[in-house]
Amino acid sequence: MTSALCSCMTSVLTYETYKSVVVRSWPLGIMYRLAQLIIISYFVGYVFLYEKAYQVADTNIESSVTTKVKGFGKLDNAVMDVADYIYPPQGEGAFSIITKIIETDNQFQGRCPESEKEFNCSSNADCIQHLGSVQADGMITGECNTTAGYCEIEGWCPAEDDKVKIKPMPEFVNFTIYIKNSIRFPLFNVTRGNFNSTKDIETCKYDKIEDPFCPIFQVDYILNETRQNVTMLAEKGGEIGIIIQWRCNLDHDVNFCVPKYSFSQLDAPFQNAKLSKGYNFRFAKYYKTEDGTDYRRLHKAFAIRFDVIVTGTARKFSLIPTVINVITAVTSVGMGTVLCDLILLHCSKRAQYYKEKKYEEVSEEQINESLTPKPGSQLSVRRGNSSCNDSGAISLSTNF
Ligand SMILES: *[C@@H]1O[C@H](CO)[C@@H](O)[C@H](O)[C@H]1NC(C)=O
Ligand SMILES: *[C@@H]1O[C@H](CO)[C@@H](O)[C@H](O)[C@H]1NC(C)=O
Ligand SMILES: *[C@@H]1O[C@H](CO)[C@@H](O)[C@H](O)[C@H]1NC(C)=O
Ligand SMILES: *[C@@H]1O[C@H](CO)[C@@H](O)[C@H](O)[C@H]1NC(C)=O
Ligand SMILES: *[C@@H]1O[C@H](CO)[C@@H](O)[C@H](O)[C@H]1NC(C)=O
Ligand SMILES: *[C@@H]1O[C@H](CO)[C@@H](O)[C@H](O)[C@H]1NC(C)=O
Ligand SMILES: *[C@@H]1O[C@H](CO)[C@@H](O)[C@H](O)[C@H]1NC(C)=O
Ligand SMILES: *[C@@H]1O[C@H](CO)[C@@H](O)[C@H](O)[C@H]1NC(C)=O
Ligand SMILES: *[C@@H]1O[C@H](CO)[C@@H](O)[C@H](O)[C@H]1NC(C)=O
Ligand SMILES: *[C@@H]1O[C@H](CO)[C@@H](O)[C@H](O)[C@H]1NC(C)=O
Repeated sequence: MTSALCSCMTSVLTYETYKSVVVRSWPLGIMYRLAQLIIISYFVGYVFLYEKAYQVADTNIESSVTTKVKGFGKLDNAVMDVADYIYPPQGEGAFSIITKIIETDNQFQGRCPESEKEFNCSSNADCIQHLGSVQADGMITGECNTTAGYCEIEGWCPAEDDKVKIKPMPEFVNFTIYIKNSIRFPLFNVTRGNFNSTKDIETCKYDKIEDPFCPIFQVDYILNETRQNVTMLAEKGGEIGIIIQWRCNLDHDVNFCVPKYSFSQLDAPFQNAKLSKGYNFRFAKYYKTEDGTDYRRLHKAFAIRFDVIVTGTARKFSLIPTVINVITAVTSVGMGTVLCDLILLHCSKRAQYYKEKKYEEVSEEQINESLTPKPGSQLSVRRGNSSCNDSGAISLSTNF
């Protein structure tokens, strides 16, 4: 019982320290200091100054976007205003400006021939293979209308013919988009708007260099920034991203927390796709005849879809990441030793010699030798008769 206690006490009440081997070598010394220098400059330059590791970041941005488009255009001799060409009309962060509409008037429920070329036929057999097709404008009945030369469908008739040539509205390039964006960084409770409400913005126009904080964008400018072919875009439609980026360093004045706008063509990966090129969608307006039969007017709209995408990070000094990173930096300086040890003990010519110096092997004989007391020696390895077991390391006990 007492021996166990004693054993426990001695194993707790010991202090182990490491013995150092000093290698007086110029090349190795230079390499060691160089390695330390690289590690220190990595931490100071990259981790602290560039990545700002002393700050805590909030990427969880809360954002709200409303938009308003203004301008008039002419499509098919009719003047179009905002209510005609904006879809959906609520002023959301994602909206479409319609540049071209193919209208199919007076569609009633019934049976009529298809208009698509792939549904041409000369006998019913040609149509039976199309039964259940989702490409048709209605449900294929399996019968061939030989006078028209097309398969018959059941659905809204007459079938839409979207091959008609319509000149798109050219004035859309002069439309302006007003974007109101308010954000909040919940971690720091910081709220910002994308323009200063005390400023007069009514007549301003966004320009990357001249007026980078104006929230009114001309479509022309955006298309030019994304290097779009305007003719093609008006004809087929497209998707454009308006990216609002907030990068705020809240260690500075909060008035420096301002948005940065950029534009991108979101459908760029599908430029050469065969199917569904551009952007279009259909919607219908429904009416009733006097006798109560429903009919509708179908619109196939080609539009430029704008997506306002808000991203952001705010950063502010915080003690915890600073302390953690300082400790990491200090610890990492020791990596130099690992590198130099590797070279010293494995790659140098006298590796064996250094190994012998670094890793001292103690044999029984040496212990026996040192047990014979030498007068004047302060240090001695004692091998007492104590009942305590050592951890295996040599115990150096100082004779105070
Ligand atoms: C459909 O039209 C194509 C040419 O446009 C023709 O080659 C084909 O024979 C026609 N199919 C039928 C079943 O009439
Ligand atoms: C074929 O279609 C035409 C309209 O394009 C229609 O007047 C005619 O009645 C149809 N014929 C048959 C047999 O359904
Ligand atoms: C856009 O506006 C400018 C003048 O502000 C005008 O010269 C130009 O013709 C307009 N573009 C279109 C397509 O209407
Ligand atoms: C956030 O800041 C506003 C003032 O800017 C203050 O009224 C509100 O109480 C703060 N909210 C929290 C959770 O601190
Ligand atoms: C708006 O701008 C004025 C001066 O340009 C500045 O003093 C004020 O703090 C700004 N307000 C906001 C909310 O940024
Ligand atoms: C379009 O961009 C080019 C450079 O990218 C510039 O030279 C040109 O003036 C711009 N046009 C308009 C209308 O902004
Ligand atoms: C845009 O595309 C149309 C049709 O593909 C082409 O005729 C026109 O030259 C293109 N314009 C530019 C500026 O590339
Ligand atoms: C060390 O000394 C012990 C007795 O103290 C002896 O039994 C042992 O053989 C010695 N070992 C060597 C390697 O001389
Ligand atoms: C250890 O103690 C025993 C008696 O308990 C004694 O005979 C022996 O000589 C001691 N050995 C040493 C190395 O002190
Ligand atoms: C040391 O421990 C071993 C096994 O753990 C035991 O056999 C031996 O007697 C112990 N020696 C002393 C001096 O307590």
